[in-house]
Amino acid sequence: MKFLVTLFFLGVSLFGAAKVVKVDARFQDSKSCKACHHRIVTEWEESWHSRSHYDNDEYFKKSLDYYARKTRKSINSTKIKCATCHNPRISITSTDEEYELEAVMGLDKGSAIDKAVNDASIHEGINCVVCHNIDKIHDEYDASKRGINRVEWTQSGVMTGPYKDAKSPYHKTKHHNFMDKKPNDLCFVCHANDRSRNGLVFTNMQQEYKKGSKSCVECHMGEKHKDVAATYKMYNGEAKIRSVRNHGFKGGHIATMWIDALELKLQEKKKNLLITIKNPQPHNIPSGFGSRELLITIIFKKGSKILKEKNVSLTTYYKRKKGRVSTPHLAKSASKDLSIPAGGKRVLKVAKEQGATSVEVELNYVLVNPEIRSLLKLKDPIWSRKNYITRATLRF
Ligand code: HEC
Ligand code: HEC
Ligand code: HEC
Ligand code: HEC
Ligand code: HEC
Repeated sequence: MKFLVTLFFLGVSLFGAAKVVKVDARFQDSKSCKACHHRIVTEWEESWHSRSHYDNDEYFKKSLDYYARKTRKSINSTKIKCATCHNPRISITSTDEEYELEAVMGLDKGSAIDKAVNDASIHEGINCVVCHNIDKIHDEYDASKRGINRVEWTQSGVMTGPYKDAKSPYHKTKHHNFMDKKPNDLCFVCHANDRSRNGLVFTNMQQEYKKGSKSCVECHMGEKHKDVAATYKMYNGEAKIRSVRNHGFKGGHIATMWIDALELKLQEKKKNLLITIKNPQPHNIPSGFGSRELLITIIFKKGSKILKEKNVSLTTYYKRKKGRVSTPHLAKSASKDLSIPAGGKRVLKVAKEQGATSVEVELNYVLVNPEIRSLLKLKDPIWSRKNYITRATLRF
């Protein structure tokens, strides 16, 4: 009987706990790839994947600190929790109550957990050996299992990629469909089912995604173009010209990316102004993370004189216990979803200002809404910056 019980627990823990594969020092750092993949490494350095570590993103850091404070857990165990997607090569994937006690008493300095969290090897966040060491994606797992809990790693030194015939003097290579024909599967390892501690799913690009649309990499890594994948002269003294993409993963933090991301149409109907916002993208906007904000500025004019300015904010507010303001990760409930659906539209009706001869409407995107900016005391201007999308004018 005892034997059966042990087996049962063993089975559960094998399924539940992420398996860690130690990355050899020769591959841990993107600097080791630069000699042969210079272009790719410099593109990636500009991306926000390179900033997903606690020390490199103010918003992530302050959200994590806030989460630890409100759940009365140590910063280290919270870092391990968020590492699931933000720092997937961390060497410890869970902590227990015993550790919490040690941490409260300040006795955890130099412990295995403290070392794992502060290890230099994970300082680059989502780097080359995150995506290119994924060997298996378990799409049959429960949707809540993401990041580390959804993948198996290759042996250290095996780089998975889009080519079936790649050869390298520095590492082994392996082709995978999720690097080639089905790249969305790779993105959905982390960009899906982001949920609060109370199980509230506050963003889910996998569910929103309109099937049959372009794949994530076609927009966020750009179109395929011809260039060498590695400068090393591997093939009869030459480097092969390949189809490659850009590793900048440009997205919401890059102001210029917002230009024309949405379409705007204005119509006059009786005493009202109808504002139609169309979203041609295959995921909602705002989306990706909670508390993003779409700002609509409406200016009624008489000739060149401004009669009235109105601002409408499309964002989501979160509440935790007792109706208190909350970050997405601590939320029990969310306000109504006002985002513009993937491939869809939203129409706003605004009363026309009396005497107006024209109206100007402008759309902007803000990374963090005012409520969360003030809750977390965010300082960097990037969080409140208005990223211009489009504008339209209608004469009455
Ligand atoms: C977020 C995941 C991700 C990260 C991080 C990442 N890559 Fe890639 N990489 C991909 C995908 C997806 C492709 C396939 C693109 C395609 O051809 O459609 C790719 C392709 C490549 C290729 C083949 C050439 C090309 O551009 O298509 C090389 C070489 C490569 N990556 C090296 C690197 C290096 C070096 C780093 C670290 C600086 C890195 N990658 C970081 C996802 C990633
Ligand atoms: C000494 C040169 C060299 C170094 C250093 C190097 N690579 Fe490569 N890598 C190559 C060559 C050559 C290829 C094959 C290019 C081709 O076939 O066009 C390659 C191919 C790849 C591919 C594509 C594999 C496939 O099957 O599609 C990936 C991914 C990759 N390297 C990642 C990395 C990462 C990550 C690092 C750093 C940890 C790294 N490489 C360091 C030379 C190097
Ligand atoms: C291991 C988890 C993981 C995988 C796999 C992953 N991402 Fe990400 N991605 C993240 C995290 C975490 C961030 C946020 C980093 C930050 O802001 O600090 C992010 C940010 C982004 C951004 C926002 C950049 C910006 O400027 O706003 C884009 C776009 C993006 N990822 C696209 C992709 C695409 C496309 C793929 C698939 C090829 C992919 N990601 C795969 C975790 C992942
Ligand atoms: C047809 C082009 C297109 C495709 C395909 C696409 N996106 Fe986007 N995505 C955009 C545009 C446009 C934006 C808004 C401006 C920007 O970030 O480029 C955006 C924004 C984002 C953001 C930032 C949102 C924020 O506010 O933080 C992330 C993350 C993202 N996309 C991930 C993905 C993932 C994952 C996929 C695949 C399921 C995908 N995108 C497919 C065009 C696309
Ligand atoms: C399921 C995977 C996953 C887990 C677990 C996760 N995140 Fe994220 N997180 C992401 C992805 C993907 C993005 C990028 C979304 C985007 O930019 O649109 C992101 C972005 C963020 C951002 C926005 C960063 C920016 O620069 O705008 C914050 C803040 C954040 N996460 C906080 C946390 C905290 C705190 C935890 C742990 C309590 C955590 N995340 C756990 C996937 C995850």
